Amino acid sequence: MKENYTVCNCKKVSYSDIADAVENNNKFDDVLKTFESVQKITNCSTGCGGCHEKVLDIISDILNGAEI
Ligand code: FES
Repeated sequence: MKENYTVCNCKKVSYSDIADAVENNNKFDDVLKTFESVQKITNCSTGCGGCHEKVLDIISDILNGAEI
């Protein structure tokens, strides 16, 4: 099931924005590297940084094969 909600309030980045960015960049299996590319694509976590953990959790769920 595809869920969607705002993950990064500063940059208005939603769960599906992050999921799409991960899917389009699926050459990494490393969460931090993937985070960097997702950050470049979506600008998430470039404001207050408060969403950093949430974004990492989402990326690691997706990389671990959670259904998106
Ligand atoms: S909520 Fe993502 S940078 Fe502030």
